[in-house]
Amino acid sequence: MEKVLSGIRSTGQLHLGNYFGALRNFVKLQHEKECYFFIANVHALTTHNDPVQLRESVKSVLTEYIACGLDPDVAAIYIQSDLPETYELYTLLNMLAYKGELEKTVSFKEKARKSPNNVNAGLLTYPVLMAADILIHRAHKVPVGKDQEQHLEMARNFAQRFNHRYEEDFFPEPFAFNFGDELVKVPGLDGNGKMGKSEGVNNAIFLRDDDQTIQKKVMKAKTDGGPQSENSEKPEEIKNLFTLLNLVSNTDTVQFFEDKWNDCGIRYGDLKKQLAQDMINFVTPIREKIVDLEQNDALLQKIARRVLKKPVQVLM
Ligand code: TYM
Repeated sequence: MEKVLSGIRSTGQLHLGNYFGALRNFVKLQHEKECYFFIANVHALTTHNDPVQLRESVKSVLTEYIACGLDPDVAAIYIQSDLPETYELYTLLNMLAYKGELEKTVSFKEKARKSPNNVNAGLLTYPVLMAADILIHRAHKVPVGKDQEQHLEMARNFAQRFNHRYEEDFFPEPFAFNFGDELVKVPGLDGNGKMGKSEGVNNAIFLRDDDQTIQKKVMKAKTDGGPQSENSEKPEEIKNLFTLLNLVSNTDTVQFFEDKWNDCGIRYGDLKKQLAQDMINFVTPIREKIVDLEQNDALLQKIARRVLKKPVQVLM
């Protein structure tokens, strides 16, 4: 059976980008394939090094996984550092990864630019550890958002090099996966770029946000002066609002605002109110489950301790 693996870094609360880019697919795939979903606490160390916060963050992501519908009875849910064989493979793959290609990785360049005082070797070899996460299970499908596409391409390169050097077809080539046609990039609310955990407080809608917070953030979202002619092209920030509407609202609602845009009758206040309400409707049941689960430390501990229900085929 095809294997699926993916993970999310424990660097803060999860947002709608994580949900629609990754988690939604985890939940669907768990019933169809042999699935491994983990919490990338070692990857988190490349940028976040406070041990207390790290532990809290691992628990927080685990809670959010379960609240979103991941089921430890059908998928293996684990914490990255609980599978130390990953580091063994990481060491071996490091011999097949070249400084030049690692330095050219978009995520490395971005992080180095943002934090020039913390350009550590772990950051440089981030894609190698990610490849080890995937290849240790010989996973075929990796549900991720668009921003991880380059990392998957690198994982395929490392797998090919390993196979070529040591044993043909030892590792299958892993591919980024989404149930739709394309990988998803959920935009932020600030008009440009993607929704992110650390792109400013008003950029992301978190799964833990309460109604008022969601409303406030959406009402502050960037808009323009409105369409100047019928059926015109939408500017980036308006396109983004429609992308978000498409994710959380029903098709009639989306069509209603599309028509309003096209005949220049759109009122951004109405669009934002509707978007906020539909986001609230979407987030509320998840938030309630998070709050419930957080009271149940014993259950969370049990899930975390149950590491790898299915035995991992340890390589080498
Ligand atoms: P991380 O923690 O940055 O993001 C977790 C997942 O959420 C997706 N995502 C988005 N998708 C669409 N739109 C957005 N705005 C958005 N923001 C985040 C990401 O694409 C990702 O799927 N390197 C990974 C963690 C990782 C991993 C792995 C993933 C470590 N090892 C092995 C898969 C396989 C990361 O940084 O995720």
